[in-house]
Amino acid sequence: MKKRSNLFTQKIAALTALLIAAVACSSSDTSLKDAFAEDFLIGTAMNEPQVHGTDPEAQPFIIKQFNSLTAENAMKWERIHPDPNRYHFALADSIVAFGQQNDMFIVGHCLIWHSQTPDWVFQDSLGNPLTREALLERMKDHILTVAGHYKGKVKGWDVVNEAVDEDGSLRKSKWLSIIGEDYIQKAFEYAYEADPEAELYYNDYNNELPQKLAGVEALVKNLQQKGVKIDGVGIQGHWHLDSPDLKVLDESITAYASLGMKVMITEMEVNVLPTPPEVYGADISQQAAYLEKLNPYPGGLPDSVQKQLTKRYADLFGVLLKHRNTVTRVTFWGVHDGYSWKNDWPIIGRTNYPLLFDRSYQPKPAYFALIREAKRQK
Ligand code: GLA
Repeated sequence: MKKRSNLFTQKIAALTALLIAAVACSSSDTSLKDAFAEDFLIGTAMNEPQVHGTDPEAQPFIIKQFNSLTAENAMKWERIHPDPNRYHFALADSIVAFGQQNDMFIVGHCLIWHSQTPDWVFQDSLGNPLTREALLERMKDHILTVAGHYKGKVKGWDVVNEAVDEDGSLRKSKWLSIIGEDYIQKAFEYAYEADPEAELYYNDYNNELPQKLAGVEALVKNLQQKGVKIDGVGIQGHWHLDSPDLKVLDESITAYASLGMKVMITEMEVNVLPTPPEVYGADISQQAAYLEKLNPYPGGLPDSVQKQLTKRYADLFGVLLKHRNTVTRVTFWGVHDGYSWKNDWPIIGRTNYPLLFDRSYQPKPAYFALIREAKRQK
């Protein structure tokens, strides 16, 4: 009898070991892109060290986890068109080639923006402000050249980035003051002319919040009334542990969907550090002073905050999965915590933990929570 029960215990132990190995193996074998394959694309932002192989772990990791790619900076005006007569395509070309080789949906970010755009764009050779006609001409040349260069390769363009202010009015940018309100329409028309097949998006931060949402809805309706092609709205998703409210996000996606828009979360991360309330957005011109108490976790994320982060990601993805017929893509703004801009914005030199992978490319509990959420909502 004793012998039989020993055998039984051994068998159970062996089976349990097998089971644990299978679970461990399946969790390390899964990937975000596979888990959400029936729901939406999963993207990341790619930067120079990653594409040039300076960080040798980056490329295999990106290939495994993601099926969409956005250049973090390489296609912004100041990088791709630094001087009036010089386009610099090399870095963006490498990112696009990497995306194509790996069958990824490539997003162009971004054609027209008030930020990271050199001053010369708005001036003549003597430094005087351009006329409306001259700036439109310059805008057209830029869009036709850049979107034309990537025709058929970039599948969706953030045509205009961050044109709406927090109160829903149009941002007082140089584009607006020199050209007038129709600069947005013109940008979309030029993008369509450059590549009629590409999807065209309006992209912004905080545009899930009611006032800004109303401004973006008006912008979309205005383009639609004029017969201008717009396919989707990007909600950047620079989010926090406590905002935005899930209901607000839910309602904003419904509102965009009712205008026939696809919605994509284009720059997602969840900030875990204390944030001065005046910088609850993503306006990169805003900065706050470093204080030790605003950098509470330089040595690692405490368990209690890790748990909050995990729950927050699961809750946010709960909303996104509910809208899987509208949400076509979720792009994370960075591959792992060490690459996130949130380590240096709005305060330089902090240690943040806003993404799904830690600084050693290890999945965090939030990653496993999302894999579970994907299965649960099948
Ligand atoms: C905005 C822009 C992005 C990037 C982030 C900060 O959200 O759209 O391109 O600059 O700010 O990294």
